[in-house]
Amino acid sequence: MPDSTKLRLGVNIDHVATVRNARGGYTPDPLRAAKLAEDAGADGITAHLREDRRHISNSDIARLMETLSLPLNLEMAATAEMQRIALDHKPHAVCLVPERREERTTEGGLELTHEEDRLARFIAPLQHAGCRVSVFVAADEHQIEAAKRIGAQVVELHTGAYCDAHTAHEFSQRDQELKAIRAIASYASELGLEVHAGHGLSYETIDQIAIIPEIQEMNIGHFLIGEAIFCGLKTAIHQMREIMDKARKVR
Ligand code: PXP
Repeated sequence: MPDSTKLRLGVNIDHVATVRNARGGYTPDPLRAAKLAEDAGADGITAHLREDRRHISNSDIARLMETLSLPLNLEMAATAEMQRIALDHKPHAVCLVPERREERTTEGGLELTHEEDRLARFIAPLQHAGCRVSVFVAADEHQIEAAKRIGAQVVELHTGAYCDAHTAHEFSQRDQELKAIRAIASYASELGLEVHAGHGLSYETIDQIAIIPEIQEMNIGHFLIGEAIFCGLKTAIHQMREIMDKARKVR
């Protein structure tokens, strides 16, 4: 069992870039958000370089790598182009995510079982370059077993369905999703995989995920950037951190 008191917060800055790109130009600058997040106690910065570059750009990744002292977790699809970019920059971590152009956000987890050989070959050079590789998957034991077989070090569990059910007040569905996340976090940890979680998390949904002892890192973006409009990014991160830490302590 990993050190259950240590729970890292990765702040996803994609949507600072979304706002910037709505007008073109340079503001608001995701790098400035990353530095503020660092000052506010984030343990890492996450950025998703999408194929269509709808938010984070190649130059954002280059600037983050040049100036950031926090570890960068680069989310990307498992394509040759993204592998080249990751190998050029060698971020601390790479998180493989599914990507479809028409989706608004990363709607589901990866379907690893259909392409294990290709993904194992895709991951190997990234790990050789020193990147910690995670795969973004649903709470499904087949995906966890496949993650282990392809050599990923980390699984990031998709919390979107849990958060959506909570927001829609579908409480029996929510409880079912939570039960699955708990069981799969425990199973993944038994298999020797590090466990992360993310997607859709807010002040209301974080505590029940933070309480799960195997989870070592949460990656949160949209809610924090939205909250920052009202109270500033530092305050939003402090508040999230406080809820996470409190949940972890009261286990
Ligand atoms: N983790 C992964 C793998 C993601 O793809 C995303 C969304 O980019 C997040 C976490 C953060 O999700 P949200 O922006 O809903 O907090």
